[in-house]
Order: sequence, then structure tokens, then C-alpha cells
Amino acid sequence: MGRFPVLLLISGGVDSTVAGAFLLKVLDPSQVYLLYIDTGLMRKAESEEVMANLSQLGARHLGMVDAGEEFLEALADIEDPERKRKIIGDLFITIQEREVSSLGIPEAFLVQGTLYTDLIESGKGVGSKAQVIKSHHNVRSPLIERKRAAGKVIEPLDRLYKDEVRALGRLLGLPDRIVGRHPFPGPGLGVRILGAVTQEKCDILREADALFISELRNRGLYDKIWQAFCVLLPIHSVGVAGDERKYGYVVALRAVKSEDGMTADVYPFDPVDLIAISSAITNKVPAVGRVAYDVSSKPPATIEWE
Ligand code: XMP
Repeated sequence: MGRFPVLLLISGGVDSTVAGAFLLKVLDPSQVYLLYIDTGLMRKAESEEVMANLSQLGARHLGMVDAGEEFLEALADIEDPERKRKIIGDLFITIQEREVSSLGIPEAFLVQGTLYTDLIESGKGVGSKAQVIKSHHNVRSPLIERKRAAGKVIEPLDRLYKDEVRALGRLLGLPDRIVGRHPFPGPGLGVRILGAVTQEKCDILREADALFISELRNRGLYDKIWQAFCVLLPIHSVGVAGDERKYGYVVALRAVKSEDGMTADVYPFDPVDLIAISSAITNKVPAVGRVAYDVSSKPPATIEWE
């Protein structure tokens, strides 16, 4: 593997950062190409943070593609979650294939930060006869399947659960601030905006989500929660602004405790925290008129809403 360049697609989040740290440790860094594709579906300031982290890890070839507009165009009017996942996954690979030629590497293995849970949920666990719960784009995209059949996909984390990936990240010397980040799905905000994705909705959700997370950090709750995020619902709900009726977006807060994402319990917030978080969001994001808290465990609900 060391004789051939390897290319890792970075989508933000812990898994691809740990996969990047792993490659930079076990291979000659001059052979490692890291390509961050900014889908425009990332959390607030995520792209800058991920790039800075990878550069600190000693990455020599680190590129970034701003593909936000392309993703929005491809997702226009698409409401079905599985179609959204496939579109995002395929476009991710199409952009990679387009960009890789500009890197000047003749042939590269594609490395992905796929976890064992991604394989299980996509019905591809070891000896699995399991049903597909959701098609993780890094597992079931037809383009990935083609590359996999050609033996061109390497997934160093594909037998690890999230807690093991975090332990590996620490072993590789990544700071807690990075490995302790809450998981983020590959399709990003694309599956947290229920229904059709637009720029306006991305911006609203990004702001609300950043406020939620910063409130959790300020209250010392972030590290007690396995995964927390906002979901933008495809409805408007009535409210009041001065003497007027005003229709605003509804945001659902999700916060769960879990070991590996396979099962999850609702985080039992103190209501005082919940009310303050709700006020912070509605005060600072005027387009949001109402905040709800999701009190469903997994199962029967999944962690994400789509
Ligand atoms: P669910 O919603 O299935 O989520 O309970 C379990 C964990 O997986 C993440 N997730 C995804 N990750 N691509 C990903 O890379 C996906 O399509 C996807 N869907 C869910 C979710 O955020 C949680 O951590």
C-alpha cells in the first residue's frame, strides 16, 4: 500500500479525521493525499476547523473543494431521504474523480473512514443478512461499489465502533477536543433538513445548531452527551412578533446518550437548560419561531430524523 498514493476524502467529523491521522502515522505523508470536499452541508466553522486540524497533523497534500453550489443544485426539490443520501454520496465521488486528476496522481487507493456501524446499518456487516436501515453513502453508493469491486477502496476503521475510533484517535495523539466531537453523518445537514434542502434552510439550521452546541459547552453538558444537534422541520408554525402573527420554522433538538450509536437513550436535560437553549435559539435566529425536544429513544426511533 505504501508504494501507491492513497487518497482520503474528508467529509468533516471524527471518523475521517482519525482515518487521516492513521494514514499520516503509518504511511509516508508524501504518499497521502487528503481532499476535503465542502458540501455546504457542514456545521458552522467546521470546514476551517477540519483543515486546520489536518494541517497540524503533518498533512503535506491537503486540498479543499468548495462544492456547496453543486450539492444544492443536485439536491433541488429532492425530498426522499434515501435519494438525498445517494445523490450526496455519488456527487461526493464524482467530484473526487474530477479533482483527483488535478492532483497529478496517476492511480490512488481510495480510503474512507467507514465504521462497522455504517456497514451494519447498510446491511453489510460480517455474515450479515440484516435489512438496510439506511444506506450510508460511503457504503452503498454505486460508484463506491464499483471501486470496491476493483479492489480500490481501503477502510481502515471498518471493524471499529465509534468508541474504539475515539480510543484510536487518542492513541494517535489527537487532542480530546477533536476526538471528543459528537459524530456527524456523511450527508451532513442534508439529512437534518427534513424534505427539500435550500441555502436558506442550511443557513438557518447551521446557526441554530451552533447555538445549541455552544450552549451545551457553556453549561458543561457537551461531553456528557454522545450526540446533539438540531433538525429543521419542513413546516411553519404560528407565533407572535409584537402585535402580529408570524410564521416561523420549527427546530427539533436531539441529544442522546449512547455507546456506539446502535442504541441510544434520550439525554435527560434539566428543564431549565432546555428552556434557556430554546430562548437562545429563538432570540438569535429570527426565522425560528418554535423549538421542540425529541424524547424518543433508539429503538424505535433512529438518532437522525431521516
Ligand atoms: P441513526 O440515525 O441510524 O444514526 O440512528 C446512527 C449514527 O450514524 C450516523 N448516521 C450516518 N452517518 N452517513 C453517515 O456517515 C449516514 O447516512 C448516516 N446516517 C446516520 C448518525 O449521525 C449517528 O451517529
